[in-house]
Parts: sequence; C-alpha cells; structure tokens
Amino acid sequence: MPEPRPLCLVTGASAGIGAELARVFAAHGWDLALTARRAERLQALAEELEAAHGVEAFAIPADLAQAGACDAVLGAVAERGRVVSGLVNNAGDGLTGAFAQVGWPEQAAMLQVMLTAVVEMSHKVLPGMTGRGFGRILNVASLAGKLPGSPGQTLYTPIKTFLVRFSQTLHLENLGAGVHVTALCPGFTFTEFHDVNQSRAKLEKLTPRWLWQDARTVARQGYAALEANRPVCVTGAPNRAIALASRLIPEDLALSLTAWSQRRIGRRWSD
Ligand SMILES: NC(=O)c1ccc[n+]([C@@H]2O[C@H](COP(=O)([O-])OP(=O)(O)OC[C@H]3O[C@@H](n4cnc5c(N)ncnc54)[C@H](OP(=O)(O)O)[C@@H]3O)[C@@H](O)[C@H]2O)c1
Repeated sequence: MPEPRPLCLVTGASAGIGAELARVFAAHGWDLALTARRAERLQALAEELEAAHGVEAFAIPADLAQAGACDAVLGAVAERGRVVSGLVNNAGDGLTGAFAQVGWPEQAAMLQVMLTAVVEMSHKVLPGMTGRGFGRILNVASLAGKLPGSPGQTLYTPIKTFLVRFSQTLHLENLGAGVHVTALCPGFTFTEFHDVNQSRAKLEKLTPRWLWQDARTVARQGYAALEANRPVCVTGAPNRAIALASRLIPEDLALSLTAWSQRRIGRRWSD
C-alpha cells in the first residue's frame, strides 16, 4: 500500500520537463524529492510545491554523471525515513556533434546520466515498489527514440531508443504487480534543452511553431499515460503522426530521407 502521501523522486527537476512533472505530481498529492545539480533552483521549486499543494518537497543536489550519485540520492531519501514510490528518470541534455569529434568525457557523462543512472535508479527502487504492490516509473525518452539514427545525435537517438525498449520490457514484467512503467516521448519542447546545446536559434528557424509543445502539456500527458499504465506515450498529434510514419516507411527509405534533409539543411556534422 502507498504511504498516505507517496513520494516521487524526480531527476533533472531544476528546469524544463522535470520541473513541470514535479508540479503535476504535487498537484496529484505526491510528496517530492527533487534532484539535479542546481541546488537553489531545486530549493525554490520545493518551496513553491509545498506552498501551492501542501505536500512535502525537498531538494537533493547531485551530479548524476558522478560515480555513486544514485546511491547518494537514494540514501538521502532513506535518511528522511521515506521510500520511493514514484521515480521520474528525466535528467539529461542533448549533446550534439559528430561522434568522432565530441570528446569522450562528454560522451561518457551522457551515457552515465541518461542511460546508466536510469537503469540503476530503476533497479534499486523496483524491489520496494513490487514488495509494497505500488509503484510508478516514468522514463523521459524522446520522439527521437522512435526514429532512425540521425547524424550529430550519435548517442542521443540510441539512448532514447533504449529507454523506450527498456520501459516497454519493465512495463510487461510488472503487469499486475501494481507498478506502472511508461516511456514519455516528447518531440520539440520549449525548455532550456536547446539553449544548453546551443541549437535553439537554428531549430526555431527550421521547424514550424506547431511542432513545438510547452513543458507543462508534455508533463500532463506523461502523468496521464503513467496513471493509465500505457507503456509508451508520444506527446501531441504531429509527433504521433511522425512516429507512425517512421514505423510504416522502410528503414532504408527513412535513412535516405534523413540524409536528404541533412543536405537541405546544409549541415555536415563532420564539418
Ligand atoms: N526539450 C526537448 O525538446 C526534449 C524533447 C524530447 C526529450 N527531451 C528529454 O527531456 C528530458 C529533460 O530535458 P528538458 O527539455 O527539460 O531540458 P532542460 O530544461 O535543459 O532540463 C534538463 C534537466 O536535467 C538536469 N541535468 C542535466 N545534466 C545533469 C546531471 N549531470 N546531473 C543531474 N541533473 C542533470 C538539469 O539540471 P541541472 O543543470 O541543474 O543539473 C535539468 O534539470 C531530457 O532527458 C531530454 O532528453 C527533451
């Protein structure tokens, strides 16, 4: 049975989709453990959630790229006498550039934050969830995870594809156990993501406004899909159409289309 107010741990809660997911969980009566590197942002959000929703919220500053960070975060939750009934694996950034030209430390950190930490966190909280017969795991993947490989996103796209398959499998393994698992697949979303990887100006020029969603809409759709125990949630009708088209088009053709669009954009990641 869940505690009177179950606790959800949200990674990458200092901005964007993670912060909005924390707000949605709080609005549904969850207590929140908020983690990311920027402590002041987390503290401000914790205070906002407590004032707005009368829940308990606290910050656990951590860099998930560091070895031992998952244990440190989970240890901080346990020290407060709390158990993790909800887990949102959201932290990440969109490191771009040709594989051979991006430094290994950056790529290793990306794998650690967006793949290893997701799997480690899930593995460490799942036994408690199944034991109590209640749990929620939301993995923030991407529409990219439903699409073929794309130059300049050498690790990003495969990581997100992994998260979709990982979530589907965990979903199936836990059917009937009271544990819901969902991969959330947003398309272009207004957050700090494209500022961090410095692609905003170019992308906003190249993509129509209707392809973009706000983080609150994405978070609401993700929460609803998780509650409904849907294994995958692609947000927004245009993104769902793109995901469907990608499933219907032969892979070779999809790759040729990707190469053609890269030529049109005039970007060569190896330049
Ligand atoms: N925006 C989009 O268009 C889009 C589309 C599809 C999927 N997504 C996915 O959505 C997720 C959230 O991205 P967003 O768009 O909300 O971007 P964002 O606004 O830049 O937020 C990213 C969050 O991840 C945290 N983070 C990054 N590196 C971290 C690290 N080493 N340790 C701990 N926390 C870390 C950041 O916090 P600190 O900097 O404070 O550590 C921040 O809270 C990502 O997984 C991304 O791949 C985004």
